[in-house]
Amino acid sequence: MREDSPPPTGQPKLPKLPKLPKLPKLPKLYEELAAWWPLLSPPVHYLEEAYIYRSLILEACVSPPRTLLELGSGGGNNASHLKLDFAMTLVDRSAGMLEVSKALNPECEHVRSDMRDVRLGREFDAVFVHDAVAYLTTLEDLARAAETAFVHCRAGGAALFAPDAIRDTFQGTTHCGGRDDATRGLRYLQWIWDPDPSDSTYLADFAYVLREGAGVPRVEHDRHVFGLFAREEWLRVLRDTGFEPRAEPLVHSGVPAGTVEMFVAIKP
Ligand SMILES: C[S@@+](CC[C@H](N)C(=O)[O-])C[C@H]1O[C@@H](n2cnc3c(N)ncnc32)[C@H](O)[C@@H]1O
Repeated sequence: MREDSPPPTGQPKLPKLPKLPKLPKLPKLYEELAAWWPLLSPPVHYLEEAYIYRSLILEACVSPPRTLLELGSGGGNNASHLKLDFAMTLVDRSAGMLEVSKALNPECEHVRSDMRDVRLGREFDAVFVHDAVAYLTTLEDLARAAETAFVHCRAGGAALFAPDAIRDTFQGTTHCGGRDDATRGLRYLQWIWDPDPSDSTYLADFAYVLREGAGVPRVEHDRHVFGLFAREEWLRVLRDTGFEPRAEPLVHSGVPAGTVEMFVAIKP
């Protein structure tokens, strides 16, 4: 028998798939503190940007898009606006965040999965990936998420990637905010900084002050590690996946001009 003959069973040996690297544990905000999300980040904060994402998706697709897959949909804040124009399927890693989103968007389909390897077995007119993409900290994982978007997007459709930051224009900053509901209150400080500009990550350290009823608030620290890639790296990953991508500045009242870029990726 020649060395390259098939094995005697008659079944050719399949090549071993590369193992998906394990992701780090999600930040507390998406695990034990997920129920506090609406007090940190309410849907109304997303109204202006959701309008921009909607316009870009409509303009990028060859024919009017109806179905939209969102990867890393979190508490469903963007979806709460986008669902007015699209039938949405929402994918997220966090069970707690999906519960928050289901309460806000009961009419949307929700799927618990990892954007790097989820396969729903159907195509959508468009795919949207917002700030959740920042939790992918290597170019390999970014390429896996781009592949997920590609296999779920129909030909002539488009994927929109809207990361919070790219290496070219990154700036450290701080934000604070929070709200009360009928029984609880949350206030937070978010400190965005990059301890090592030579690597592909940056950090957001959060301090949450959490009050239940009239009790004394407790304080929690939470570190979020984000991926940070150059514009050219983004464009190369999307091109290698098969998309025709372009960078687009995000201009809205919530971000300083020239600091945030999105990637509109057309599937030919
Ligand atoms: C800031 S929240 C997203 C909020 C969302 N943009 C909205 O409109 O409400 C980030 C989300 O990314 C999700 N996430 C992080 N890594 C993920 C992955 N590999 N696959 C799917 N979801 C992921 C987290 O579980 C979290 O819910």
